[in-house]
Amino acid sequence: MQMSRSAGRAADGAPTPDEVEDLYAAATQGPPLCEPRTQAAAYASVFSYVLARGDAAWVAARSDGALVGIAYGHPWEWAHQTDEWSAELKERLGAAAHRLEDSFAVYLLAVHPTVQRAGLGRVLLEDLLATAGARRAWLQTRDEETPARALYRAGGWTEVGHGPDAPNGRPGLVLGLRLREAAPR
Ligand SMILES: CC(C)(COP(=O)(O)OP(=O)(O)OC[C@H]1O[C@@H](n2cnc3c(N)ncnc32)[C@H](O)[C@@H]1OP(=O)(O)O)[C@@H](O)C(=O)NCCC(=O)NCCS
Repeated sequence: MQMSRSAGRAADGAPTPDEVEDLYAAATQGPPLCEPRTQAAAYASVFSYVLARGDAAWVAARSDGALVGIAYGHPWEWAHQTDEWSAELKERLGAAAHRLEDSFAVYLLAVHPTVQRAGLGRVLLEDLLATAGARRAWLQTRDEETPARALYRAGGWTEVGHGPDAPNGRPGLVLGLRLREAAPR
């Protein structure tokens, strides 16, 4: 098995939306997530949309050429977030919304079941955040006990509030992580 990792910005050399859909579907079809294929297709569309922004960062892992891991995201400034999902996020976070300003939003993290629990998810997340260049990062996940939740807890992510509904139909849990101290003024 030949494993390789790559990273980039925007669409250059990035995995295709179809690859992201297949990977996400495989990673989430079993328990405890049991997500329908339509969810993977929706997230693949979001991937295309975010890559088109030009400021996205992604990291990917391949095994014998096949995509087995991905993490991606982009810098977050409320003034640039004009879509409906972001508006709902802001409304639901209320006073906590300012904690996301000028941070890095992690949109997706997924590892294929055949290579899970070998440290790849943690490494991909760390690699992505290392390229982020931001002081803080945030993400939204299901507010229930999942492998992802355990990974974020182990990594020191803390609760910011709740956002739009997650695929389980309940408000998603928004977590934040301090990456480095503010530069002295
Ligand atoms: C979450 C996910 C990316 C983790 O990938 P992974 O490569 O298996 O994770 P790692 O091997 O790097 O695990 C890192 C840590 O996370 C925690 N963890 C990961 N999977 C776990 C599990 N099944 N049960 C308990 N803890 C788990 C552990 O603390 C683990 O460290 P340890 O192995 O030293 O105990 C993977 O399970 C996945 O793709 N899930 C479906 C998609 C998803 O939920 N993405 C996140 C959406 S917000």
